[in-house]
Amino acid sequence: MRVKAFVRAGLTAIGRVALLGLLSPPVKLALFILSVVSLVSTVAGVGLVLAPLVAMLVRAYADVHRRAARDWSWVEIPRPYRELPAGAFLGNPRRWWWLVRDPATWRDLLWLLAGAPAGLLLGIAGPVLLVYGLHGVLAMPVLIAAAGDSYGYGVTWPIEDTLDMLSVPPQGALVTAGALYAGPWLLWALAHFDRALLGPTRGAALARRVDRLTETRTQVVDAQAAELRRIERDLHDGAQARIVSLGMSLGMAEDLVTRDPAAAQALIAEARQASGLALAELRHLVRGIHPPVLAERGLDGGLRALALTLPIPVTVEVDLGGRPDAPVESAAYFAVAEALTNVVKHAHASTAWVWLSHFGGALAIIVGDDGTGGATLSGGSGLAGVARRLEAFDGSLRVDSPSGGPTVLTMELPCVLSSPRTSPSSATG
Ligand SMILES: Nc1ncnc2c1ncn2[C@@H]1O[C@H](COP(=O)(O)OP(=O)(O)OP(=O)(O)O)[C@@H](O)[C@H]1O
Ligand SMILES: [Mg+2]
Repeated sequence: MRVKAFVRAGLTAIGRVALLGLLSPPVKLALFILSVVSLVSTVAGVGLVLAPLVAMLVRAYADVHRRAARDWSWVEIPRPYRELPAGAFLGNPRRWWWLVRDPATWRDLLWLLAGAPAGLLLGIAGPVLLVYGLHGVLAMPVLIAAAGDSYGYGVTWPIEDTLDMLSVPPQGALVTAGALYAGPWLLWALAHFDRALLGPTRGAALARRVDRLTETRTQVVDAQAAELRRIERDLHDGAQARIVSLGMSLGMAEDLVTRDPAAAQALIAEARQASGLALAELRHLVRGIHPPVLAERGLDGGLRALALTLPIPVTVEVDLGGRPDAPVESAAYFAVAEALTNVVKHAHASTAWVWLSHFGGALAIIVGDDGTGGATLSGGSGLAGVARRLEAFDGSLRVDSPSGGPTVLTMELPCVLSSPRTSPSSATG
């Protein structure tokens, strides 16, 4: 099974890197020449329209590679382009000026030029290694089939004697395995090459980050104010009202205790009931802020306890080498809680799963279900709220939910873990 998965992953990656690397050079070179011509033609005036048009084409093509890097190698390449100023329509010199002043335009050109040979090299490496290895593996059967028709099998694997004939197939198998192993790395290398030129420069990334931080700070302040209002309202309408009625019942009981002990007893019983309700409401409120089980047993215990409360079986797998800070832990917990609530509410799923691990300096959380799919960030306030909450920690949420299912939510939450280690576990609730 593992061998099959290894072979499939290797072949898929080799196929993808070959597709990207071998098909792209002609497109890249054509776009590069078009770009240069369109820019030069500005002296004749046509470039004012042509250059922005060609740039749009180049950017759309670069987006294809950005998408491939994201979907196939999990390498996110943000678009580094400056925002189009208002009124800079096609043909307007401002549009042309906006284009040539954007460093990303020139980096795109560099990517087109340097990407052609780099892609070719990476794209061809996998298939060549694979064919070479398989050729070696096939040496013996081919020679035997040739019924001893002398030695000298191929130029790549020259076979002089019987020892060669016996040793070449294992060597070929080794090369084939090496090619399959290298496949995902070649794809990864291509994605990183693309990111180096298609992603924002350090300066642009910093400027973008400042913008993002300003935006998320406002969101966090708003969210905190809303949360405070909710707690205030819950306390006012819930526990506070119960405690007021409890006080009134006790006051009335105090008056009645000598005159009508039976009525006083009934009032005291009522008061006891109100105190129980107030306590339950306070507990509920606390659970909504920071569930005690999360504080005591961390994400592992918290999520398993959460899974047990759901009406469908949820597999929880948590492998953490320690605990993140409380705010991160809480954000992760509520993100999973919202995702699982959605599964129950919308997915019509028979099972769901939660997988949580920490690598590359971030918590990686995946919540999936086998339901009907169709989850969107814009459908309600739940998932959008999760995305905002994760963004406040520099994290991200990705929703993959084709109609017909399955739904997979992938969340990333940068953080460091503190020891001690909590043991990896798995459970079904
Ligand atoms: N696991 C899922 N399977 C199928 N559809 C989903 C799933 N999760 C979300 N959706 C769809 O995506 C939409 C957006 O989800 P979101 O959580 O943002 O809103 P909501 O659950 O409808 O409302 P709220 O969370 O604000 O109470 C939902 O209305 C639902 O149609
Ligand atoms: Mg929801």
